[in-house]
Amino acid sequence: MKRKILAFVSACAVVLSACSSNGAADKEITETASEAVMSNIAEEMVMPDISDNFLQELYIAKKRGKALVKRVEDTAATDGSALLIYNRIESWNGAEYDCEKFRGNDINVKGSFRSAGASVRVSIQYDINGNTSYNSICTVKTNNDSYSEVNGDFTVPDNAEKIIVYIESDTLDDIYTDNFSIRTIGEYKYIAEVGDIDFADTSAYPSLKELYGDYFRMGIAISPTIAANKDYSAFVCRQFNSVTMENNFKPEAVLDHNKTVSDVEKYMESPALSFEHLRTELDFARDNGMTVRGHTLVWHSQTPEWLFYKNYAVGDELADRELMLKRMENYIKSVMEWSNENYPGLISSWDVVNEAADDNNKMRESLWYKTIGEDYIEQAFAFARKYAPEGTKLFYNDYNSYMPSKQNCILGFLKPVAEQGNLDGVGMQSHINTEIGVGTFMSALEKYHSELGVEIQITELDVAVKKGDGWEEKQGDYYGSFLSALVDEQKKGVPVTSVTVWGLTDSMSWKAADHPLLMNDDLTPKPAFEAVVKAAE
Ligand code: G3I
Repeated sequence: MKRKILAFVSACAVVLSACSSNGAADKEITETASEAVMSNIAEEMVMPDISDNFLQELYIAKKRGKALVKRVEDTAATDGSALLIYNRIESWNGAEYDCEKFRGNDINVKGSFRSAGASVRVSIQYDINGNTSYNSICTVKTNNDSYSEVNGDFTVPDNAEKIIVYIESDTLDDIYTDNFSIRTIGEYKYIAEVGDIDFADTSAYPSLKELYGDYFRMGIAISPTIAANKDYSAFVCRQFNSVTMENNFKPEAVLDHNKTVSDVEKYMESPALSFEHLRTELDFARDNGMTVRGHTLVWHSQTPEWLFYKNYAVGDELADRELMLKRMENYIKSVMEWSNENYPGLISSWDVVNEAADDNNKMRESLWYKTIGEDYIEQAFAFARKYAPEGTKLFYNDYNSYMPSKQNCILGFLKPVAEQGNLDGVGMQSHINTEIGVGTFMSALEKYHSELGVEIQITELDVAVKKGDGWEEKQGDYYGSFLSALVDEQKKGVPVTSVTVWGLTDSMSWKAADHPLLMNDDLTPKPAFEAVVKAAE
């Protein structure tokens, strides 16, 4: 069935100005399209304009997750008042805004934040055909003394539903928010409702896993919805022979906070875990003969902060090295054991440590680093080797890992791991763009192999491109050269063993604003898909 836009009316027929932060609305109609249509939808067509300055108790922001929000006096804020977001027990807990009326519109988001050094992020969540995507709109590094401003634009897809813009951060610190707004850029479009997507018949598309079968596995990041949906899953099965769970194998998804804190003594050295949510994706992979990249065990992000506190109470006393080593060992052991007992042989590789280098090319001072010390990476790999079933490949995975100074930092801390025999591969995430030299990237790839003696996987490929004349072809050319170069590396004897794209369609990507993937929403191929096919042929 065609995806129907039941009511779409361009706001050029109407000039509407409405909705101040305290809900007052007035409208002025200068020209009417059709009286009948107008009378039905005039109410909904009021241009959404969210603007919170937190001067009064009547603000629009709502709490997200377990976080709480309240208006507070704050001398650092404009006009002396702000929204305090507190009681955050997971990094995505924050404040949120219902943005359903922004469907199909270009939006601008502005805000200013104060927090103890956290990177505060404004993100957007929406469903496309039942699949929830989480996108970052803009991020700002904060400090405790003054407000840091952030400003970003985003195009909300026409077929997005359950649209929410929210404030989150990479720590659990309180976030003070001031002057937050979400506004339409340019002309407002009102789209009342969306129907089903009319998916293309993908059965005759050339198959990437077959085309690249002599060189490497072709993989894709999935969600439970992709695994469960017949159109998406049929396409994925035909095209790919490796999958990565985009979010569900991360510590945040596996660690069970409620159970752990229900008996702190019992779980002191081995936090409680839950795995049932993984079954849809793992069953899908097993039943369709795919392998799985396990992503990820030890990471600074999407790992709840409570894990690092002695009694699992954030803000209390941090756990010491000995206790954290026990928790790390037990976590890795339990994940390996559960996976092997329930899905023997399915997980071919694990991203044991993810993103341990920071953006200043030093070891990231994460809570793993702070509690255990510099050798936490070696320890993690040693535990992974101890408990991984034989043949499971152990990877270090990072973004911007092709950049020479970041690469030097990474090589520095991976050499001892390789010498101990605990490193099998380097995962180059590859969230790249069309301006990055393919030659530079391949030189870095060769260096990881030659200096560490390990295999390489491209683990999270997406290629951002700026929209403009010929943007899709430009992106296609880049994808084509990138894949050809990887094949050349293989032919030269550099073991590139898999290439994973980070998602299925552009609107479902974590970077939807950059249109970085291979497929359109209805699974028609973008020039990028065609170029990847051509590069293999
Ligand atoms: O986890 C909560 C979930 O429990 C809750 O129900 C839901 C609704 O409130 O929010 C969820 O949080 C979101 C999470 O995805 C879903 O697991 C976060 O807000 C959102 O920021 C998060 O985004 C993910 C991001 O990692 C987080 O860093 C993206 O989907 C995912 O594509 C992205 O993937 C990472 C790789 O793992 C590592 N390399 C970089 C890459 C891109 O950031």
